[in-house]
Amino acid sequence: MIDLETIVGDAKASFSAALTPADLENAKALFLGKTGRVTELMKGMAQLSVDEKKSRGAAINLSKQAIEAALNDRRQELADAELQKQLKSEALDVSLPGRQHTQGGLHPVSLTMERIEAIFGSMGFDVAQGPEIETDWFNFTALNTPEDHPARSMHDTFYVEGGTESAPNLLRTHTSPMQIRYAVQHVKKHRATIDAGHTMPEIRVIAPGRTYRVDSDATHSPMFHQCEGLWIGENVSFKDLKFVFTDFCRTFFESDDLVLRFRPSFFPFTEPSAEIDIQFQTGPLAGGWLEVAGSGQVHPNVVRNMGLDPEKYIGFAFGMGPDRLTMLRYGVSDLRLFFDGDVRFLSQFQS
Ligand code: DAH
Repeated sequence: MIDLETIVGDAKASFSAALTPADLENAKALFLGKTGRVTELMKGMAQLSVDEKKSRGAAINLSKQAIEAALNDRRQELADAELQKQLKSEALDVSLPGRQHTQGGLHPVSLTMERIEAIFGSMGFDVAQGPEIETDWFNFTALNTPEDHPARSMHDTFYVEGGTESAPNLLRTHTSPMQIRYAVQHVKKHRATIDAGHTMPEIRVIAPGRTYRVDSDATHSPMFHQCEGLWIGENVSFKDLKFVFTDFCRTFFESDDLVLRFRPSFFPFTEPSAEIDIQFQTGPLAGGWLEVAGSGQVHPNVVRNMGLDPEKYIGFAFGMGPDRLTMLRYGVSDLRLFFDGDVRFLSQFQS
């Protein structure tokens, strides 16, 4: 007869050899299952005498208990090992830095636009927005630039579908069409006052926005920004233009002794016309000039297209380049950086 101690030893050995709970359950079946070795011993007791059954039964039971204890120990060991493994794989490293949420900010050109609006707002100017797809009339003809005018060639642009032969749709080449659009609305609003022979309230507006031309290099982009300005009243003169624009530039650049130059120029929609240059005060270009705007006294034909009598109403207009103002303010040398969308460049302007 096989020695009970041998069976217990074999069971302990095969339990230790089991590396997974499934292996362990298989090993258990070999000893305690229906046809397991311990069960077979129990069955073999049938032929024994009553006394023999008692002592043999007690011995088998002891062995069975020893095997069950070994089984439970091994079950616990495997469960512990599994838990350790899990804890290790799911370990949290509390010393890792947290995930950061970066904060967005306004585009440098938007910062300039906001600044322009705030400064002109403080001088009593309204802010108006207009369409980027314009008609030929507003973009050219109403601004004293008829179809065969040579000045049109400097404003080559993108024409879009949907227009008619007499009124083609184009991407506006400047914000000047807003002079007409805004003035026409203003005149409509004050029609009764004008018809009654009274003087209408002055037009004082800026119109910032995107403009388009067939142009591309370090200082020209096919899409760029402009901000139009218009002041029309009974006694608004070129002197007021000089005062307002100089005051604006000094406030914008926070420099009380900034020097401006009004250089005679030509625009079909103003007479006389001037380009406005700013003098560099410091840096390698000190003493040099940079053009920042076109300007002039609004041409009588344009005043007429606004629906006003040029004998009574007069004023000035200007169109400046916020992209250029931004380049000057922050010392950026290539305009294209503004439109590349590179976060490393843009994040430098976060306030
Ligand atoms: N619209 C002109 C341009 O894009 C700039 C300009 C010049 C605007 C004179 C004006 C002005 O309002 O009076 O080149």
